[in-house]
Amino acid sequence: MSTEEQGGQKSAGKIAPATGKLGVMVVGLGAVATTMIAGVEAVRRGLAKPIGSLTQMGTIRLGKRTDNKSPLIKDFVPLADLNDVVFTGWDIFEDNVYESAAHAAVLDKETLAKLKPYLETIKPMPAVFDQYYVKRLHGTHVKKGKNKRDLADQVIADIQAFKKTVDRVVMIWCGSTEIFLEPTAVHESIEAFEEGLETDDIGIAPSQIYAYAALSEGVPFANGAPNLTVDTPALIELSKRNAAPICGKDFKTGQTFMKTVLAPAFKARMIGVSGWFSTNILGNRDGEVLDDPQSFKTKEESKLGSLEYIFQPELYPDLYKDIYHKIRINYYPPRGDDKEAWDNIDIFGWLGYPMQIKVNFLCRDSILAAPIALDLVLFLDLAKRAPDLRSRGIQEWLSFYLKSPQTAAGLYPEHDLFIQSMKLKNTLRHIMGADLITHLGLEYYD
Ligand SMILES: NC(=O)c1ccc[n+]([C@@H]2O[C@H](COP(=O)([O-])OP(=O)(O)OC[C@H]3O[C@@H](n4cnc5c(N)ncnc54)[C@H](O)[C@@H]3O)[C@@H](O)[C@H]2O)c1
Repeated sequence: MSTEEQGGQKSAGKIAPATGKLGVMVVGLGAVATTMIAGVEAVRRGLAKPIGSLTQMGTIRLGKRTDNKSPLIKDFVPLADLNDVVFTGWDIFEDNVYESAAHAAVLDKETLAKLKPYLETIKPMPAVFDQYYVKRLHGTHVKKGKNKRDLADQVIADIQAFKKTVDRVVMIWCGSTEIFLEPTAVHESIEAFEEGLETDDIGIAPSQIYAYAALSEGVPFANGAPNLTVDTPALIELSKRNAAPICGKDFKTGQTFMKTVLAPAFKARMIGVSGWFSTNILGNRDGEVLDDPQSFKTKEESKLGSLEYIFQPELYPDLYKDIYHKIRINYYPPRGDDKEAWDNIDIFGWLGYPMQIKVNFLCRDSILAAPIALDLVLFLDLAKRAPDLRSRGIQEWLSFYLKSPQTAAGLYPEHDLFIQSMKLKNTLRHIMGADLITHLGLEYYD
């Protein structure tokens, strides 16, 4: 069955090849960013496998199950080769990527020692930072400017300089979680936002300044943190106008990843849930930042959303109307990046009989986040080259990677990991002009 027969549109135009160098500008060279950069270099040198990365290890089924055709995703769509990826970035501290990775202590000393000569060459540019938006950090390596417009222009100048050395550019925020902000009048339009840059509007946080600079330059932008950033009419409009794709926010790594796997399973079987208590301990810098109530609020909002949307209590009041959902994050330095998450889930079954499930996830935060950051960068670069995707603004098909998917106005976000996975793969099939897969499968029984 063709995509047209299934109601889909034929993909318009051919995707430009991924020739030349892909420049990746990383905002915040902390635990996640350095684990991604070191990991890419380790893979390039054949020291390790890119485990956890769909772009590097995933396959995609084409045609019928009997066709036995499942190429690697990277052989099916034209993605940048890891050997062509060049990193640069900004941070509020002067540490180079080797020093920062050593401080984050995610990767062992032996691995870092092998990568040291390369990692030392990546030194952060001075950052746009204001402690009002991240209370627990004191930046020393920061840009000075007469107003936010001036700071945005300095980031634009950084992008333009980097563009001269590579063929294409993508930006990703791996910086800290900012305080909770809601959209205000300054976010309503590009004009209002630009006016707000001139007048130093308090609603414009540093992450928005980087995003504005990227989108102004036609550079796709991904957001690994739960910050408001591009989730506003102004920056969505700028993304569309300059064909600079954006996606949702906050890497979906540990506990929320598990939630968006388990919750759809309960719902599929009509199992009720009366409570879901989630608690975490972590001791890295991210944990320290999240110890501040205002940054925690941003994270909490991002983490809370998924269950509400998956369970659809308005459709299933008997099963999910009274669910008590609580999330706690505690900063506990001895654990470093090795987060421990506990979930207690109170469920009920046939005739309302209660049961419990306990999930204890001993994870490594940045080991889970690094391949997600890499995939987002590579897929956003693909989106920028795909005529059917580049000017659509929000790339909902990348929700798969994010705790807070971004959608068109009025559309509820899809949080179910398996629906997200199907959406992602069908988008790849669509842009390559291949048939979509609906899993109907009646033809096998003709
Ligand atoms: N690791 C995970 O599993 C995970 C999952 C989801 C989201 N996140 C988010 O990803 C982000 C990065 O996490 P991390 O563990 O690497 O934290 P981290 O504290 O190790 O790194 C963040 C870096 O950003 C820098 N920074 C802060 N503000 C900046 C600014 N305005 N400009 C430039 N640099 C700035 C900090 O100096 C620090 O080096 C956090 O917001 C975190 O909440 C992480």
